[in-house]
Amino acid sequence: MSIITTAKSSECPFHASADLEQKSKDFDMFGPEYQSCPATSMQNFREEKPIFFSEKMNYWIVTRYEDIREIFRDPITFSARNALEKIAPNSAEADEILKSYNYGMNRTLVNEDEPIHMERRRELLDAFAAPNLEQLRELTKKLITEEVDSFIGKGQVDLVATLLWDVPVIVALKFLGVPDDDIAVLQNYGVAHKVNTWGRPSGEEQKHVATNVGKFWHYSGEVLARMKQNSEGKSGWMYDMIHKNKSNPRVVTDNYLHSMMMAILVAAHETTATATANAIRHLLLRPNLWKKLHDQPELIPAAVEECLRYAGPIVSWRRQATKDVQVAGVDIKEGDKLFLVMAAANRDPQQFENPEELDILRDNANEHLSFGYGAHQCLGRNIGRLEMCAFIEELTRRIPDMEMMEQNFTSLPNTSFHGPEELWVRWDPNAVVQHAKEQSTFPIGNPDKRSIVRSAKVAAINNLTPSIKRIVLESADDILPLPRWTPGAHIELFLPNGLKRKYSLCPSEQPNQYTVLVKHEPESQGGSRWIHEELQVGDQLPIQGPKNFFKLDTAADHYLLVAGGIGITPLLSMATELHQQKKRFELIYCGRTRDNLAYCDIPEQFIRAPQLYISGEGRRADLRALVSAQKPGTHIYACGPDKMLDELDALAEEYQLGLTFELFSSASSILDPEKETAFEVELIDTGKTYLVPRDKTLLEVLLAHDIEVTNDCEEGLCGSCEVVVVEGQIDHRDRVLTANERRSNTKMMSCCSRAVGKVKIKL
Ligand code: FES
Repeated sequence: MSIITTAKSSECPFHASADLEQKSKDFDMFGPEYQSCPATSMQNFREEKPIFFSEKMNYWIVTRYEDIREIFRDPITFSARNALEKIAPNSAEADEILKSYNYGMNRTLVNEDEPIHMERRRELLDAFAAPNLEQLRELTKKLITEEVDSFIGKGQVDLVATLLWDVPVIVALKFLGVPDDDIAVLQNYGVAHKVNTWGRPSGEEQKHVATNVGKFWHYSGEVLARMKQNSEGKSGWMYDMIHKNKSNPRVVTDNYLHSMMMAILVAAHETTATATANAIRHLLLRPNLWKKLHDQPELIPAAVEECLRYAGPIVSWRRQATKDVQVAGVDIKEGDKLFLVMAAANRDPQQFENPEELDILRDNANEHLSFGYGAHQCLGRNIGRLEMCAFIEELTRRIPDMEMMEQNFTSLPNTSFHGPEELWVRWDPNAVVQHAKEQSTFPIGNPDKRSIVRSAKVAAINNLTPSIKRIVLESADDILPLPRWTPGAHIELFLPNGLKRKYSLCPSEQPNQYTVLVKHEPESQGGSRWIHEELQVGDQLPIQGPKNFFKLDTAADHYLLVAGGIGITPLLSMATELHQQKKRFELIYCGRTRDNLAYCDIPEQFIRAPQLYISGEGRRADLRALVSAQKPGTHIYACGPDKMLDELDALAEEYQLGLTFELFSSASSILDPEKETAFEVELIDTGKTYLVPRDKTLLEVLLAHDIEVTNDCEEGLCGSCEVVVVEGQIDHRDRVLTANERRSNTKMMSCCSRAVGKVKIKL
């Protein structure tokens, strides 16, 4: 069976314990739990009370991936104006100090709203495109090599102080075009800006911080003035802005230049240093991964992305509602402030399988929210990725036995940046690699998910029926076992004949093994036929996953599981889980003949026997009778042929029951260039217009222009490539949106749906 999934699910209410209710009211971002590990501290909130109001902080705290992504996606309803607002107001004395420096930090790309935000972003974004960053690559590598040369003989250093702090600031200032002599001074003031905005300094500290922020403002103004006087023929992003300031002063104002100078230094420097420190810390905690990256540096871009997901440098961000609105069913009033905990969203099990594991072969790690999302997504993300790859490559390449020393990690108390202030590591100076291997050159930008694969080996093949084989896979990699998965998950097999096939996972007898069932399809394009005729025990296959778009929600009172033919595979794992959790369920298993039904004799240790309906033996399932007999509160999970799912869909609506289903495949999404017409799409986030030709999908066009859009099935079935429709008519081809959603014309699946005429969208 080749499967891809889609789901319709009834709303599931959240029930928080009384203890959590009280904790939510008293929640303090400066409390020890959040400060020591923001992601872990929010785990219970995310599962039981995903949005709550902290009376103490006067913020709505939002923790789920889907909710945060939707908020980032709508900059009109959720203003960015409070993104740089001071968390703790200044004392009168601190304000006086700032006034004495004429401190006038104003809005920047980070905290301004539409329409001026997009006007400015459009003017300023070209320099950040991946092809324009090539010149930074060699500089970055050279700087890192020189720094590593300077300490490699010592055998022990604090990496933050000796390497991770210096290189990003030099790279940032080179990118900006700021003269070298100003680097050290500007670097030191960055910390003050961070504490001033996101920290809660005490009275005396406030005065110290205000003095440094004032000096930072004053000094950056002086540097800017010098650059303006001498801007002819100079290159760098600040010079670009200085030229725009002359050519378009309405959009790029004097104050804007000055404010950006200060903001960009912190953004470009601190985030990269912190992200890299986090990544190295977590890789060294798992020495096998460090060794793996030494042996296979081509895995570094994927590892960087996973580290950004697992422990990104920016753990939270802020927004403010511009009108009354609902988030996850909770009423938010105009003017209310929201605190979005991306660290919690990045470990949301609804989005990432096995979220608490650092899995460097996770092919959807780049869906993390560490760079934000949508119109305000971090412009400098590709510079950060480039530097992180270069740091990790140089260190794993030259110091393969590096290990972390015993230490107490500390981080600067603040709400939004999280990483160690020091990172002490050691190694044997006699065991370093001087120049044995060439440095790698990684592509700049978002890593290509097609290159992120695991190597699996066939451990067993059994014939369950004449047409169904059971394939058991295990990791072919000594270091990286196959990760755990949850009921409903699937993997994708890459076959030697070039075909890719998705298969749901069934329970395995051994941990770290994957079991799939493959039915020999008479109409096979070569996938199931190859597996049935060619695949042997001991063969190795690249695989991707596991991923889960068919999640089992165990909050329902009762379950009806309906499987058609080979559709039993995901439902078998669900039944096993429900059985173990002592939940009430019925498993209905339908097919034409016994040959079509694997696991007619389902092992007792997994579940109790299903109700079999074999039409060829005169016993056909009466779906109406089955559904109408269910109690309110029953949730139906189904996998099987389209006809069966369509019937269940209608019945679930008629009897007001929740339904989640998984489709085998979607014929309506297949692109036939002969029958298509080209269309134009304007991307509101950048203001740029693209032509989608008749032989390409919108998703393909966006990805080709280096625009990051999450995607998976590319068949209109998983919902991950959804974009927002601002204007225009859509010809929907997906199987994700409901009839109502299609009628509202507010979103589309970019992998398959097309526009009728010109369309405006946003990410
Ligand atoms: Fe899955 Fe488009 S719906 S990638």
